[in-house]
Amino acid sequence: MIDLKKLAEAGSIEEALLDKVDLARLPVHIAVIMDGNGRWAKGRNLPRVEGHRAGIASVRETVETAARLELGALTLYAFSVENWKRPRYEVATLMMLLKEYLRKELATLMTNNIRFAPIGRIEGLDPSVQRELRYAEKETAGNTGLVFQIALNYGGRAEIIDTVNRIMTILHDKEMSDCVIDEDFFSNHLYTANVKDPDLLVRTSGELRVSNFLLWQIAYAEIHVTKVLWPDFRRRHLYEAIIDYQARDRRYGAVDQDDAGMFIEADEQHA
Ligand code: IPE
Ligand code: IPE
Ligand code: MG
Repeated sequence: MIDLKKLAEAGSIEEALLDKVDLARLPVHIAVIMDGNGRWAKGRNLPRVEGHRAGIASVRETVETAARLELGALTLYAFSVENWKRPRYEVATLMMLLKEYLRKELATLMTNNIRFAPIGRIEGLDPSVQRELRYAEKETAGNTGLVFQIALNYGGRAEIIDTVNRIMTILHDKEMSDCVIDEDFFSNHLYTANVKDPDLLVRTSGELRVSNFLLWQIAYAEIHVTKVLWPDFRRRHLYEAIIDYQARDRRYGAVDQDDAGMFIEADEQHA
């Protein structure tokens, strides 16, 4: 049962927004491109890394809120395969902050029944980072609530290529080279094989691009872009994203039920 008291303080802006959220029609999976840390810091005359440090509070609040809303999955984009192009000091600080977050938050992940799952080319990260990630993954493996995926050294194209290679190895090992691959089979071999495709993709800081995130999985995701910079992102912004999502008409290429009637009549006249 969703505990509303844990989702908003009485009389707050959050409570007013939460009131507008239809709890029976929540997205199952929300994916977030956490962007704008650098600009947040620049606006305060601080070094970029201070933006990353401040962004941790947003991560914490978003993860806890997603768990309390009893969503199925939350995927946060934390480090792309392209982010290695950044200054060495910035990359090192990001990795250090990640390790710190995992160490500090493991207990909270356990209390909230959250299963932690890193996705991306994890083997390309520093061994000390890999160790922390694997430890958190192992400790939370038995949890049955929210699946919290964090995308690290992640690229959508890299994932597709890794999947193709993985499938080739399987087919080769099983001597099944004449087998036909369909979408379900392909999806089941992506990094995200265990979770449903995102219903809602959120990007902070106003940028209108997907930056190589979950390219296969977002085929029919609803997109919500907010100008809010990631370190300023709070629970209420997540509620705003969900309210926006719930106002969308998801057609998946078909037509609305109401409009479909008109077409059926036209089809009958045609016949
Ligand atoms: C997002 O914030 C964090 C990562 C990509 C790791 P940025 O660091 O991209 O912030 P901006 O886009 O420069 O403001
Ligand atoms: C996307 O943000 C990657 C992450 C949030 C980890 P970037 O800031 O790296 O993306 P671009 O450069 O604006 O496309
Ligand atoms: Mg950015």
